[in-house]
Amino acid sequence: MINPERAAELDAQAAQIMQANDRGGFTVPTARLYPYQWNWDSAFAARGFAQIDKDRAWQELETLLEAQWPNGMVPHIIFRRDDPDYFPGPRIWQSGTTPPSSGYSQPPVAATVTRDLFEAGPDETAMPRARALFPKLLAWHRWFHEQRDPDGQGVIAIAHPWESGRDNSPDWDEAMSRVDTSKVEPYERRDTDQIHAEMRPTKADYDRYIAVIQFGRDCGWDSMEIARNGPFFVADPGLTFVLLRADRDLLALADALGERAAVGEIEGWIARAEAGAGSLWNPEAGAYCARDLRNGLASDGVSSVSFLSLYAGLKAPAQETANIASLTRVLAACRFAVPSFDPEHPKFDSLRYWRGPAWCVVNELIGRGLAERGYGDLAGRVRGDTGALIEQAGFYEYFCPLTGRGAGGGDFTWTAATWLAWASPKHFAASA
Ligand code: GLC
Repeated sequence: MINPERAAELDAQAAQIMQANDRGGFTVPTARLYPYQWNWDSAFAARGFAQIDKDRAWQELETLLEAQWPNGMVPHIIFRRDDPDYFPGPRIWQSGTTPPSSGYSQPPVAATVTRDLFEAGPDETAMPRARALFPKLLAWHRWFHEQRDPDGQGVIAIAHPWESGRDNSPDWDEAMSRVDTSKVEPYERRDTDQIHAEMRPTKADYDRYIAVIQFGRDCGWDSMEIARNGPFFVADPGLTFVLLRADRDLLALADALGERAAVGEIEGWIARAEAGAGSLWNPEAGAYCARDLRNGLASDGVSSVSFLSLYAGLKAPAQETANIASLTRVLAACRFAVPSFDPEHPKFDSLRYWRGPAWCVVNELIGRGLAERGYGDLAGRVRGDTGALIEQAGFYEYFCPLTGRGAGGGDFTWTAATWLAWASPKHFAASA
């Protein structure tokens, strides 16, 4: 157990990190390695800020949605000024938007956080601020349902591994191995200047990332062209579940704000996902797995996002029992919850990014879903481990699930935010 003095020290340190990464209305994930505003990072940052400065929490969501494209997409990186420390920067993407941005999105956690903020502070500012965000969130969700699920299957695809937020998960290996890299223009990456190469994606992975971006850029970021003919289009359980949860929260907001006109549309999205998400269940893996929509092939490993079915509120008793058994097995195989990929799978890699390490933000979503569905012991394990990782190693980008070693960037915004909003022992007392 973390003693109260130590917890208070970490609360203060987390708040300091959030403030140090504040660039005036938006945060960067960490200085240098990620010098811009990132999409789901900002949603988590808002949850952290809500603990120390409510106004600043709203602002984080507002600046994120300022970058929305005319077609509704909310980009995964917003380039408010060019920074040579980061590749690929605005010149590669050529978004043609103000501010410039990347051409993909990221898991839409923002509607859920908007609801959290709205319900925590029904004061005179929460109502107009939520009202102003609502149509933007609605348009963003509509873009996902129309452009990333063009056949209405109830599963949401990603058009680039980065859109999943789990950049180099083994879930994308098969589909990425077929991406043609023969026309990749020469480039120089910057990430390995700052972080040990063993933790980052390989050169071959990087070439494929760039080849997929070039396709999007060359078609002027035409979403339907990307969905129909792009080199990579894979249904992601992570995105499908985060969006299903976010749609439920958007529906609750619509009710609270009197946005009657939107209700039917959102209910339709929820019904479609409830009917379709089960198609991602892979009985051999005992998990919800990614599926390549070009050839129907499912991935074969247990990723941490499989456990987000609870957070999504998906009701499928047989799959839920098997999914919980997979979670229990995976947790028995490592000291710290929750490995991003199955520690007993040959592709597990304890330090390389999304191929094994534990990420506090995913833990937060998994833990929340487990608690809501009454799996108190598992939820306690996930939350307790998250606190222990931070307490022992510091506010790192991610952690080795076997040893607890911190890895990637340090002084990380979303790790600090997750501490403040959820993992700090002050919340245990409240919910025990
Ligand atoms: C990495 C992560 C992504 C995150 C970004 C900024 O690219 O894979 O999920 O949003 O870093 O923290």
